[in-house]
This record gives sequence, structure tokens and C-alpha cells, in this order.
Amino acid sequence: MARGSSGRSSLSRHLAILDAFDVDAAFLTLSQIARRSGIPISTAHRLVAELEEHRFIERLDDRTFRLGVRLWELAARTPGALGLREVALPHMQQIHAAVRQHTQLGVLSGSEVLFVERLSMKDAVVNATLVGGRLALHASSSGIVLLAHASLDAQEAYLGSELERFTASTPQDPAGLRLLLAKARHDGFVVADGYIHVDARGIAVPVHGPEGAVVAAIAVVVPNDETDPASIIAILHKAAERISAELRTAYLSPDDPGAEPGGGFRSLVHSSTKSMEYLVSSRALGRR
Ligand code: PHB
Repeated sequence: MARGSSGRSSLSRHLAILDAFDVDAAFLTLSQIARRSGIPISTAHRLVAELEEHRFIERLDDRTFRLGVRLWELAARTPGALGLREVALPHMQQIHAAVRQHTQLGVLSGSEVLFVERLSMKDAVVNATLVGGRLALHASSSGIVLLAHASLDAQEAYLGSELERFTASTPQDPAGLRLLLAKARHDGFVVADGYIHVDARGIAVPVHGPEGAVVAAIAVVVPNDETDPASIIAILHKAAERISAELRTAYLSPDDPGAEPGGGFRSLVHSSTKSMEYLVSSRALGRR
């Protein structure tokens, strides 16, 4: 791979430019991009121009830049994020209607949980979660579910890292966290009382993918008021089972007798049966 004088590959420098944007820094000037990416301004100028040419970055009239819609177009083809979200969304809506608090879907991304969807309403409890945002694994119910089902090596590497304290209740001690991870695997759910904010309780369960491995956590963030969480856990388990069943069907080969209409679209698109049939037939006719 081509490497500049900095020793970083061209790809990693382009990615550093894209990574300069964040959920709370969506509009940046060139000098902000350079500072946040650690890339000299003249190089950043050239890299930004290349990314703009490919529509990965968009320039606004006020001379700021934002991430380009082209990135969303590619992201919409990620089975592990938006495909999963398509399948999960109707079930999340049912949870949200029943619990009437934040309902969210997170996946493991590096050493954090990345949230791919969140349903909220204005009068819900305080919540740090943003769609496209990340939270520390040890501090959230979703993160603990995901870490509990990660490889032992990944768990130990994480437990050996510096673990941030958000409140007096955030678990930080590796031995205590190992017990929490074992309990999460045994119980099939995690209740995190005040780990991120004293007023908020996270409740999360695992979602299994087509091969049976845990691919996501589905969770609610509710008031931290000592209410018995059993009924919410039951709602989450039912939703997670349905999502897992739909993911298994979505990944069946089109000629499997159990496969539903939709062919190659199914791992990304979950629409009505008629729409799925139409998508497959219009592709076969070369219309798309
Ligand atoms: C949690 O999943 O435990 C959680 C997530 C976000 C919050 C609070 C709790 O703001």
C-alpha cells in the first residue's frame, strides 16, 4: 500500500480525515479537520479534495465540510449494521410502544458498543446514546452483553485496559467485571443500574445471528428506580428471539425450501412480501 513520508498508508490517512467527523462534530473547517486528524493542513487539503471528488465529503457554502451522503449509500449495504437494523426495527417499535422508554440496538465495534438505531421520546429518561455514537463496553448493559460473548482474548484485553468511571456505580474492577460477564452469559440479560448516569438503568439482551453467535444487543434505557425488570426482560427476550429467527431466514440460500421471497436482497431489505417479489423480478428483468 502506498505510504507517505509520515509512514502512514494513504488509506489510513483518508480514514483519519473521515474519522475527524463525529456525532457532535458534524461540520468542520479544513483546519479543524487537520487538527482533529493529526494531518498537516497542506496534506489534509489534498486528501479532502480527493474525498470530495468521490462524494465521501461534501463542501458547504460557508466553507465547512460534512460527511457525504455517498457514505450512507455504502453504509446501507452493510448487513451487520443496516441489514440488522432493517430486521430489528419493527421489533424495536413494539418494545418502544410497550416500555415507552429509549429502545436501542448496539453492535460490538472495536472496544466499544456502536449504536445503529435508537427510538426515543421527549419525556424519556436521560440517555447518553446517539445513533452512530459509541459507549464504553463496561459501562452499559449492551456493552456488557456484547463483551460477555466476545472471545476470551478480547475480554481479557479489554479488562486490562483503562476503564473509565462515569458514576460511583460504574464497574471498573476486572475481577468484578469477570463475574458480571459470567452472570450475563448465565442469565441471558444484563441490568445496569446507574453505570453511566445515576438516573438511568440499562437493560439488555443478546441477539443471535444466523450462525448462532451473538451479533448485537437490544436494550432499553429506563428510570433507575428499582422497579422489578422481569417484565421488560421478557419483552426484550421475545423481540430478540424473533429478530434472530428472521435473521436466520434472511440468510438462507434462495433455493432453500424455508427461504422467503427476496433472493439476494433479504440480508439488507425487509419489506412486504409483494415488494420483495417485485425487487427480485425487476432485478431478473434487468430493470435495476
Ligand atoms: C445502558 O445500556 O446501560 C445505558 C446506556 C446509555 C445510558 C444509560 C444506560 O445513557
